[in-house]
Amino acid sequence: MARPCCILGIESSCDETAAAVVRNGTEVLSSVIYSQVPLHQPYGGVVPEIASRSHIEKIRGILEQALAAAFPGEVAPWAQIDAIAATRGPGLAASLLVGWTAAKGLALALGKPLLPINHMHAHLWSVYLDHSERFSPANYPQLGLAVSGGHTSFVECTCADEGALAYRLLGQTIDDAAGEAFDKAAKLLGLGYPGGPVIDRLARTVALAPGEKPIPFPLGRVSAEQPLPEGLSPELCVSFSGLKTALLTYVRKHPPQSEAEVAKIAFSYQEAIVAALSRRVEHALATGRYRSLALGGGVSLNGRLRAALTPLCQRAGIPLLCAEARYCGDNAAMIAGVAPREVPHPTPLELDIDPSWPI
Ligand code: KG4
Ligand code: ZN
Repeated sequence: MARPCCILGIESSCDETAAAVVRNGTEVLSSVIYSQVPLHQPYGGVVPEIASRSHIEKIRGILEQALAAAFPGEVAPWAQIDAIAATRGPGLAASLLVGWTAAKGLALALGKPLLPINHMHAHLWSVYLDHSERFSPANYPQLGLAVSGGHTSFVECTCADEGALAYRLLGQTIDDAAGEAFDKAAKLLGLGYPGGPVIDRLARTVALAPGEKPIPFPLGRVSAEQPLPEGLSPELCVSFSGLKTALLTYVRKHPPQSEAEVAKIAFSYQEAIVAALSRRVEHALATGRYRSLALGGGVSLNGRLRAALTPLCQRAGIPLLCAEARYCGDNAAMIAGVAPREVPHPTPLELDIDPSWPI
């Protein structure tokens, strides 16, 4: 981070093809995102084969747009770039391959360094994009919650003296991700895809009468007997598959008869997800170790989740850092932004993608 640097980022881990140019980690000069949502909508979820083909079609145009927008009028925008950063994992293999291979080709052709980026680190960095004033070593150790369609991870992030960040996974979902839980519920309730924004919107229409309680859905507790990857604590792990089954059982027993009943089910389901996540955050903050909470990923757009985490952070006396809405979902600005903080790889051109690259 010693000298100013301008990085071209490329993201293609799931169903967004994205490219961006970011200066010094936080100053977004351009961010172009092509969302494939309409292509996957008929299937109620991402179809890897369709995703990969669409990335191939779009990536060149998206890269050109990102460079042109970052350096308007420049005849050789490539020359302004110091390095190329691309998502190497985790994500869908056939999707990752497109962006990673494009990045390799560009790095070779332009003679610029190639920086392999962990997608989850990038989601947590997204809180600083367009907000350089928010970054401070005093925010660390930081508790990170990355919640998306593919991940639900509780992460400890520390900042070394020279500004490099290091991550340790504390807990995660043992089955479905939070976004996946939203998407599956919306499909079951006939609300369309992606489910999170629809359920969020519908839940806002519900006002419980005095004394009225949400439908009691399970809060995703993971038992102490559950075998977990080394180093993870059951209190910071979560399971959403039982919640989905509970919803199915409830709807079979009590088929909703009106829009209001659908809304109450959606509201209660969202309450269960938010309670599951916020209880774990509360547990981690109770250690007194963390100096900020960073919230990233598509599900971090959820209004109820932000509202539930706000008082927890206030009580702990730490800032709640949330990304701007345009950087919550998958984007390439977060990839280019986190790049100067990642540990560089000595021979990146020899690296393959890693669809299950750990945090
Ligand atoms: O980060 P993202 O764009 O892509 C992945 O890496 O998965 O996250 C997409 C997920 C979807 O599951 C979507 O339903 C969810 O984020 N999502 C939301 C909201 N907006 C998007 N979930 C809850 N509330 C929202 N407002
Ligand atoms: Zn993501």
